[in-house]
Amino acid sequence: MSGALSCALSAPLLPLLLLLPLSLSQHYDHAPVYAHDVSFPILSPTVVPFSESNSSSSLLSTITGGYFDTPPKTNPLGHDVQEFYSKFIDGCSAKYSRRQCEQTERQRIQQNNDQPPKMTNYTTLGYHKLKFDPDLFAELLTFYNSYRDQAVPEKWPAGNTFTNHWSSPTLMVSLEDRRFHNGLSLKTRIWDSVQKSLESWSHQTLKKTSLYGIRIYTSDSILAPHVDRNPLITSAIINVAQKGEGTELWPLEVYGHDGKAFNVTMEPGDLVLYESHSVIHGRPFPLVGEEYANVFVHFEPIDDDENPIVQYDGEKTPSDTSADELNLHRAAASGDLKLVQKISEKEVHKITMRDENDWQPVHEAARADNVEIVKYLVERGAKVEDETGGGGRDVKFWAKESNSKRVLEWLGEL
Ligand SMILES: *[C@@H]1O[C@H](CO)[C@@H](O)[C@H](O)[C@H]1NC(C)=O
Ligand SMILES: *[C@@H]1O[C@H](CO)[C@@H](O)[C@H](O)[C@H]1NC(C)=O
Ligand SMILES: *[C@@H]1O[C@H](CO)[C@@H](O)[C@H](O)[C@H]1NC(C)=O
Repeated sequence: MSGALSCALSAPLLPLLLLLPLSLSQHYDHAPVYAHDVSFPILSPTVVPFSESNSSSSLLSTITGGYFDTPPKTNPLGHDVQEFYSKFIDGCSAKYSRRQCEQTERQRIQQNNDQPPKMTNYTTLGYHKLKFDPDLFAELLTFYNSYRDQAVPEKWPAGNTFTNHWSSPTLMVSLEDRRFHNGLSLKTRIWDSVQKSLESWSHQTLKKTSLYGIRIYTSDSILAPHVDRNPLITSAIINVAQKGEGTELWPLEVYGHDGKAFNVTMEPGDLVLYESHSVIHGRPFPLVGEEYANVFVHFEPIDDDENPIVQYDGEKTPSDTSADELNLHRAAASGDLKLVQKISEKEVHKITMRDENDWQPVHEAARADNVEIVKYLVERGAKVEDETGGGGRDVKFWAKESNSKRVLEWLGEL
């Protein structure tokens, strides 16, 4: 399976290696093998400790419970990883508070430790690369090229350390953006297509959980290695576009079920499948080049008696979708009252939170005629007169627009 994946130290990377200190570069005859905490703090808040005495010995050491026999001081790119990481946290702390940043980091690391061992693994290695449907890809690329100029900054929750968005902002050309033609239809078809690929790879019957994108990462972006929360279980990344020299080398670093780091490089049109709840994944090496645009697609296996989904009971952590922030919007749109209640009780601020189109959950519920949810949200502080934008687009407006009979009746309009 791994043969299908491009090895990061294949020909295109060789020029880069010349930049490495000689003592390290001599050991790059073949791809390094290493486990957690070398490229970025993953299972512990510090990277693998430096051992002056044997730092020049091989990076190709055997894996010992996630650690090196001979710990390197620098990461494979030649950074002092600990210093690099401190700067990352300083950047976050300058934008938010150190307490918030450190808290999300603690959660990320705790979840990396706790979650994978408890999960059911569906494939041998946990990741796989292939080509995305070429026709659908062509359409996606056209969509991206048409609306790239209208990309909006992606909003991140305070203290989120999932990306270094404070210094390398991420942008969105959302398939759900109501300004863009064809997005929702494209989204549905992408979802269906990826579902087929994932089902045949994982031998599971899947149900859709979320599709998010197109996110654009910008120069020097970092994606902290993490696992996704349930129900983002089997997932896929579509590489839509990349701009600038060096982008083709920006690896998605995954830790397969074998515990070894592997770089998956992607070209536009590539699709990477991975078990995102058990495979730690990230992009710990800063993006060389200007832009890198991806779509994220998530599913969960159908939960039945034979195949119960193990719930991770950890705290909320960053996940692949900052759209996770918008989970109340999704629950309101899909009519899941129980979930709406659960989220609203825990995260009260989300009741009136707006998405990038200025919609609150109550507008989603009204549009989908989920009257019980509209009522519940209003009882909890949402206002029917709040608008999604100027011009009277309030709850009644959207209910009328979508012919939401039950909501209109409740509003006294019928
Ligand atoms: C490298 O250093 C570590 C820590 O000092 C030590 O435990 C290990 O035996 C050394 N390995 C070699 C090959 O010298
Ligand atoms: C992954 O890619 C980085 C950056 O290109 C490289 O330095 C590192 O050695 C690679 N790691 C593996 C396991 O191949
Ligand atoms: C599933 O994979 C994870 C890492 O990807 C590993 O920690 C865990 O032990 C595996 N579980 C089983 C039952 O093999």
